[in-house]
Amino acid sequence: MTRHLLDLAELSTSDLLEIIDLARVPAGHELSQQSVAMFFEKPSGRTRNATEMAVVDLGGHPVMITQGEVGIDTRESAEDVARTLGSFHRILAARVNDHGVLVRMKEALSSPPWNVSVVNLLSDVSHPCQAIADVLTMLDEFGDGRSMSALHGKRLCYVGDANNVTLSLAQASLQLGIDVRIAAPQGYQFSSEVLDDLADLGASAGASVLQTSDLAEAADNADVLYSDVWTSMGQEAEHDQRLNDLSGYGIDAALLAYANPDAVVLHCLPAHRGEEITDEVLEGPQSRIWQQVAHRRTAMRGVFRWLLSDGEGS
Ligand code: CP
Ligand code: NVA
Repeated sequence: MTRHLLDLAELSTSDLLEIIDLARVPAGHELSQQSVAMFFEKPSGRTRNATEMAVVDLGGHPVMITQGEVGIDTRESAEDVARTLGSFHRILAARVNDHGVLVRMKEALSSPPWNVSVVNLLSDVSHPCQAIADVLTMLDEFGDGRSMSALHGKRLCYVGDANNVTLSLAQASLQLGIDVRIAAPQGYQFSSEVLDDLADLGASAGASVLQTSDLAEAADNADVLYSDVWTSMGQEAEHDQRLNDLSGYGIDAALLAYANPDAVVLHCLPAHRGEEITDEVLEGPQSRIWQQVAHRRTAMRGVFRWLLSDGEGS
C-alpha cells in the first residue's frame, strides 16, 4: 500500500521509530531514476532546502513548484494538480495553507493506477517533518544519537501559541515517552478535544501532557524548552492582537532558570527575537537551533525512505 505522511497521529509508534532509524542511515540511492515534486503555497527557507537536498542525497531529482505556476483551486482543482504531478513524480511534498488540500491530494492519488506518496511540509494544522528533526536533535542530546529509551521520562516545555508546530512536536514527543507541558494564554491553547487526543497518544508510552497558562509550572524541571512564532504564516492580519495577547509567553533567561541546568532550547525558526525568544537565549550555550536545522535534511531522508517502502514486514 502506498504510504503517505500528513500527520503524525496517523502513524503508529513503530512507523515513527522506523522513520527515525531510516533517517540515521547515510545517503543512498533509494530515489535513483525517480523524482519528487515540492509544492509550496507559503514561503520557506529550511524546509525547501532540506527537502531538495534530501532528494539529492537519495539520488533523486527534485522539482520545485509554486502556487503561481499550478494555481490550486484557481487554475485547476487540487485533485487535478495532484494527479498531474503524480504523472511525473513518485512523491508529492507540499506546504499548503489549508490542511484539507493535502487530504484531497492524498485521496485523489489513493486508488490505482497511482502509486504516489503525499507528504506534509507544513499546513495550518501540523508540521510533521519538523517534529522528526526535533526528535533527532533531542536524541543527539540525550540519547547519544542512538538510544530511544533515553528520551523516556524527559520533560519538554513548549511556550507560546499552541499551533501546527506544537501539535506535531507534542505528538512525536508523547509517542516516544516524553512528557509535554504547554504554556499558552487562554485563546491560544489547544481545545480539550486535541488535548484528549494527545493524552491518548502518550498513554501507551507512559507520557503525560499538561496545558497551562502558568509559565513557571510548565517550565519547571524541563529538559527541553521550545518556542515558535506568535504569528504563523497566514495570520499576519492578527499580528498586533497576537503580540499583545501572547506577550510574556516566550523563552528568556528567567524562564530558563526554572528548567533543568542542562536543559536545551529548541526553536523551529524563523525566530522573532525579543518576542517568543530572546536573542540572549537563542544565541546562548543551551541553544541547539542549528543542529535542529541540519536535522531537517536528515529527517527528510528518513521520511522519503519510509514512504518508498510499502510497509510489508514492518
Ligand atoms: N522550520 C521551518 O519549517 O522553516 P521554513 O518555514 O523556513 O521552511
Ligand atoms: N508556526 C509557523 C511555523 C513556521 C515554520 C508557521 O506556520 O508559520
